[in-house]
Amino acid sequence: MIRYLSVAALIAASATIAYAQGATGTAAITERKAAMKAVGGANKGLTDMAKGDVAFDAAKAAAGFQTMETNFVKAKALFPDDSKTGGDTAALPAVWEKKADFAAKMDKAIADAKTAATASKDEASFKDQHKQVVSSCGGCHKDYRVPPAKK
Ligand code: HEC
Repeated sequence: MIRYLSVAALIAASATIAYAQGATGTAAITERKAAMKAVGGANKGLTDMAKGDVAFDAAKAAAGFQTMETNFVKAKALFPDDSKTGGDTAALPAVWEKKADFAAKMDKAIADAKTAATASKDEASFKDQHKQVVSSCGGCHKDYRVPPAKK
């Protein structure tokens, strides 16, 4: 069992490394901040819709969740070991200290956004889906991001 687990962990780790080869160092920081910003931008539109400030539109809702999913996938691959500091990053050391938990939280956000894109059939289901998706934001930021300064 122990041997099985460690092999699985190794495979998971090498898959992560292979995937993260795109950007390194401060380039990775710049790219992941841009990806998270795109998640935030998509969420702004979805939040306005959930509050009723903007009329519900199934196609727009799906597109918003898809933008989130795509950018979560991008961001997940942009935390290489050489990007712990610099580039004005707000990522906490915990990202690298608890890699498996961080990756699991990212995977959950990706899965929830993907589900939401197809499950938001009408206004009520959209609101439920949006609630589910945004529940992952604070859960991850609390442990892994320096809270943004109040402006
Ligand atoms: C699995 C972890 C995780 C989840 C889930 C997550 N975030 Fe983040 N987010 C981060 C981390 C880490 C940073 C800091 C990145 C950095 O500065 O290097 C960040 C940064 C941000 C930023 C700032 C980007 C910038 O301009 O620097 C925004 C906006 C943001 N997240 C929005 C969201 C929203 C909205 C959700 C939910 C829909 C969400 N995040 C879900 C981990 C997460």
